[in-house]
Parts: sequence; structure tokens; C-alpha cells
Amino acid sequence: MRKGLGTLLLAALIATNASAAPDLTTCQGCHTPPFGPPLEGVAGRKIASVPTVDYCKVLKAKSGESWTDANLRAFLMDSQGFAPGCSMTVKMSGSEADAMIAYLKTLH
Ligand code: HEC
Repeated sequence: MRKGLGTLLLAALIATNASAAPDLTTCQGCHTPPFGPPLEGVAGRKIASVPTVDYCKVLKAKSGESWTDANLRAFLMDSQGFAPGCSMTVKMSGSEADAMIAYLKTLH
């Protein structure tokens, strides 16, 4: 019983931390118009679909796909692996990427 409650509390704490807003300042250095695509609404959006942004070739070639969780995760964990030669260089751990994706989904 006690152990059960403790486990629940721990799970709640972990959930709270995971949903805390990740630091976007490193992203915003680039993700400010006109240079970078807006991060508002990017989750679920078609890849490379903001008309005013001059996307790199590799992302343009993927524009038939959307920013699903899996694509965002792959991109945020190794942006140069997902989009070689593009100007964005980000390498997050899996948990950082998951927290960032959860946060991006709250931006509209
Ligand atoms: C060095 C500058 C830079 C930084 C730092 C950066 N980005 Fe980017 N990002 C870009 C550019 C430029 C693009 C457009 C693709 C290209 O041309 O390389 C892009 C594209 C994206 C896209 C795809 C957008 C679309 O419309 O298809 C996502 C998602 C993204 N970045 C998320 C992030 C997140 C989250 C962070 C912070 C952890 C971040 N970026 C940090 C420059 C940056």
C-alpha cells in the first residue's frame, strides 16, 4: 500500500518534470523569422511547408512527409543525420527530444 502510493507519487513527479517547458532559447536564436521556420504548429505540419522559408534541399525532398513524433524525434536527436548538410545542428538525448516534442505540441 505505502509502496504503491510512493510509486504513484514518483510517477506524478516524473510526469510533471517531463511536461515542464524545455528551454527554447537555443532554438529561438535561429527560429525567428525570416531565417528559421516558426516552431508554433510545427508538430504534425508538413515538412518544409512554410512558404517564406528557404529550406535546405534535403528537407524539401521530404516535403511529402509530416513532422510526426517519429520524424521529430529522429531530427532532434541527430539533425545532421536526418537532414545532412542543412543548417540546423541539434543533438538531443531521447528524453530531451520527447520533452521537446511534447512542448512543441502545445505551441499553436
Ligand atoms: C543553427 C540554427 C538553428 C538552431 C539552433 C535550431 N534550428 Fe531548427 N531549423 C533551422 C533551420 C535553418 C531550419 C530549416 C531547415 C534548413 O534549411 O536547414 C530548421 C528546421 C527545423 C524544423 C523543421 C521545420 C519545418 O517547417 O519543416 C524543426 C521542427 C526544428 N527546426 C526544430 C528545432 C528545435 C526544437 C530547436 C531547438 C532545440 C532548433 N530547431 C534549433 C535552424 C536552427
